[in-house]
Amino acid sequence: MSDKLTRKFLKQLDRKVWLKKVGIIGVGEYLPEKILTNAQLEKMVDTSDEWITTRTGIKERHLAAEGQAASDLAIKAAQQALANAKFKAEDIELIVVATITGDMSFPSTAAIVQNKLGAKKAVCFDISAACAGFIYGISVAQQFIACSTYKNALVIGVEVLSSITDWQDRNTCVLFGDGAGAAVLAEVAKGGIISTYLGCDGSKVDILNLPAGGSRHPATYATVENRQHFLKMQGNELFKIAVNTMTKAAEVVLKQAGLTFADIDLIIPHQANARIIMAVAKKLGIPEERVYLNIERCGNMSSASTVTALCEAVGEGKVKRGDIILLDAFGAGLVWGACIIEW
Ligand code: COA
Repeated sequence: MSDKLTRKFLKQLDRKVWLKKVGIIGVGEYLPEKILTNAQLEKMVDTSDEWITTRTGIKERHLAAEGQAASDLAIKAAQQALANAKFKAEDIELIVVATITGDMSFPSTAAIVQNKLGAKKAVCFDISAACAGFIYGISVAQQFIACSTYKNALVIGVEVLSSITDWQDRNTCVLFGDGAGAAVLAEVAKGGIISTYLGCDGSKVDILNLPAGGSRHPATYATVENRQHFLKMQGNELFKIAVNTMTKAAEVVLKQAGLTFADIDLIIPHQANARIIMAVAKKLGIPEERVYLNIERCGNMSSASTVTALCEAVGEGKVKRGDIILLDAFGAGLVWGACIIEW
């Protein structure tokens, strides 16, 4: 072996030896008090409880109160996660907020959260990966901790989707909700994140986006009049792609981990549509009882969905120490992410 190759090999060996195991050591969630039921939606648009329930699995969703922004929800979830992890805010070294509905275009919602939490020494930034945001977030945080750049991280998935929902569009307004979930990540002696897999297909930006308000179409009277500040989605087209992509992501991340579906105790998928989730489970051969759902009560909360579902599954005792869980998500970008964790 040449000197150059020997050095490269030793460097790789060194990395493997010194990379730390990273796990989630605490979780928290916050769902706003206000609830919007399907029956209430029947009075707002031409829809029915029967249509929404059978097509999506959603019965109700939580909505932020007027004046309640993403950071307000994020703080409550973060405080619960910190208490759950027995961690002080001032000890947090990194805050990553996954969101597409942050308080403002800039600065980052993570910076606002840092100040409100009193997490003075934390480095902060946001991630825009829509429904896969939380999995992108923990994957990024994992790298920083594994390489010893930071000792710990607070990863938050939060959305106030009601602020970009067109309440006159029955195709979309029945689907979304608001909420926040948070996780504290740190080095663990055993288990932790076993494998992550992220992906993106930027050729399909047009099928799910928020057209105006960015540098492409800054806010004008016309963009407001044309309702361009509300989320647009070609749901039908997304449905098939979501099923195939989430199935593939689960297969890839399992293969990377050297595991099979029989090893998975619980799948915690992104909650876009109960029919999408059950189609993925069926393709993977995973029985319904090993799939966690909170969509009936929460709707689709984008970045907040996977992490709140994880938090609830832990709270209900459905995830126990030593269990192997699979997180699997897909969303606007198009982006996707899957992650296997030994709890
Ligand atoms: N109430 C009643 N009827 C509705 C409705 C509502 N809220 N929304 C749509 N419809 C109608 C449509 O207008 C259409 O009527 P038409 O046949 O007369 O044109 C009919 O229902 C069927 O619409 P379609 O879009 O084919 O329904 P669907 O079974 O595909 O369900 C979604 C629609 C949005 C629930 C589904 O496509 C979906 O969940 N897509 C993926 C969402 C997703 O993954 N998002 C991104 C990732 S987060």
